[in-house]
This record gives sequence, structure tokens and C-alpha cells, in this order.
Amino acid sequence: MRRLVSETTLRPRQLILPMFVAEGAAQPRPIASMPGVVQHTRESLRKAAVDAVRAGVGGLMIFGVPRTRDATGSGAIDENGILNVALRDVRSELGDDTVLMADTCLDEFTDHGHCGVLDAGGGVDNDATLKLYAEMGVAQAEAGAHMLGPSGMMDGQVGAIRQALDDAGHTETGILAYSAKYASAFYGPFREAVDSQLKGDRKTYQQDPGNAREALREIELDVAEGADAVMIKPAMTYLDVLRAAAEVSPVPVAAYNISGEYAMVEAAAANGWLDRERTILEVLTSIRRAGADMILTYWAAEAAPWLD
Ligand code: PBG
Repeated sequence: MRRLVSETTLRPRQLILPMFVAEGAAQPRPIASMPGVVQHTRESLRKAAVDAVRAGVGGLMIFGVPRTRDATGSGAIDENGILNVALRDVRSELGDDTVLMADTCLDEFTDHGHCGVLDAGGGVDNDATLKLYAEMGVAQAEAGAHMLGPSGMMDGQVGAIRQALDDAGHTETGILAYSAKYASAFYGPFREAVDSQLKGDRKTYQQDPGNAREALREIELDVAEGADAVMIKPAMTYLDVLRAAAEVSPVPVAAYNISGEYAMVEAAAANGWLDRERTILEVLTSIRRAGADMILTYWAAEAAPWLD
């Protein structure tokens, strides 16, 4: 009877696996604060991507970890930059069998770790950054990404990238906008995952955790600029925002079950304090119940087979 009246579905196709690929890695490198997640080599990324898609995962979101960084994050735009090379690898391996997504943000590639370039005063220069995002987006589309994930929270980023894609003939490349991304302490493990160089915080561009109305305004702007889907991030501590977004968004809504959410559950489970599998399924089900059409989660490939 419970099965008959169950209100929330959780299917592998609704899960997106975020993956890291490190330039020059000879073997996959474990990420200490995210047990079970690695910085892939180009080869292990291809293989893990195929395995995830075979397990039924609906999409992949690729992050690059370069060997060298500079002030403008030029490795993000370079066609031989690690992320663009890896996108080409995965696209040639999987073609259109999955939705291949790319993180469109400079933070992994800048030597100061910010999501954009800096002005003379050391603050992030929003509009100068837009030009670079536009170039990065076109490079990623050319490398084979089906969908771009602008995660830098610069004002106008969706419009700038959409315009550049269209001008370059990439009219079919989609945009999954990180519309409401909060300045969260839960990103901690991710910073290790991408060897982030960040000192300080992202409070001049990411949202205040106390603000919900602002998230809806950000979604409205992104949709007007051409977003094909919008995202709320993090997920577990923002389920109310997710619900509000799902109620008004005219496009599909994603939620990012981020690194700190993963780390908390893994650490507690490793101590025997939580039943790991039950907890993971409860987390993912709750995010769906709150209104996410799709969930980015580091458990995507592992959880997919549990859902049958
Ligand atoms: C920035 C970016 C971050 C994450 C995804 N993209 C970190 C940040 O904004 O500091 C976090 C993802 C996670 O914590 O799992 N490009």
C-alpha cells in the first residue's frame, strides 16, 4: 500500500554526477574530505563516465583541475586546457548517450581562486569576467558539452554566454544556470577537490544564506536571459528555497547536493553513526520531494542501481 501511494519518485535519470579531472594525473587521486570521490586522470574519467551512464545516470558535470593557474584563468578558455580536453574525451566516448555538462567558472583556473578576474582594488570585476565566461562557454561547446553550468554568480552571466553561443552557431547548447548559489560553508570539501587557491570568501557575488526572496529574483533574471534550467545550491539546507523555486520556475529546477553534504553523511556512516544507504536515499528523496527535477550528487553512480 505504501508503494501504491508513494508521492515521490527517484530515478537514475534524475541524477547528475559531478566529476573532477586533474591535468597530468598519473592515477586517480583520492580527495580526503570526500571519501570515494577522486580527481580522475583523463583515462579514468572516460571509464567512470561510461560506467555512470551505463548505470542510468542522466547527466555528467565535469570540473577541471589544472596544473598551473594565472590571474585570468586562461586555462579555462584554452582548447588544450584540461577541462576542454576532458570534455572532448568524454563526448567522443559517449556521444549523445548522456547530457555532458561543463562547469563554466574561472575559480579552478585562477591563481587567486575567485570565480572572476579582479579589479585594481582586488574585488571581482563582474563585467570583465562576463567576457571571459562567454569565451569559456564557446570553447566548452566546441569541446562537446551539451549543456553549460555557469556557477560563478556574476550578474548577466547567462545572457552573455547565451549571446556568445548563438553568435558562434552553438544554438543547441543549453544552459543550466546556477541561479541561487549561496555563500556556504558546506563547499569546504570541494575546495580540496579542485585544489582551490581561494583566500577570503565569495560574499560579494554569492547569496546570503538568510535570503530566500532574492533567490526567486535571481531565477527570474536567469530565465529572462535564456536559462534552460535553473539550480539551487546547496540543497539540504535550502529545501525551502528549492520548494519556492519549483513553484514558480517556468523551466526545470536542479539542486546540487554538494560536497559538504556528502562529507557529513560519509563521515557519520564511517563511524557507524548512520545507516549509509538509507541515509543517502532519504537525502535524495527529500531533495526530490522539495521540488528538484534533477539532482547533482556525488552518489549518482552508486545510488542509481539501488533505485530499481
Ligand atoms: C565554483 C563551484 C563551487 C562548487 C561548484 N562550483 C565552489 C564554490 O563556489 O566555492 C561547489 C560544489 C560542491 O561543494 O560540491 N565554481
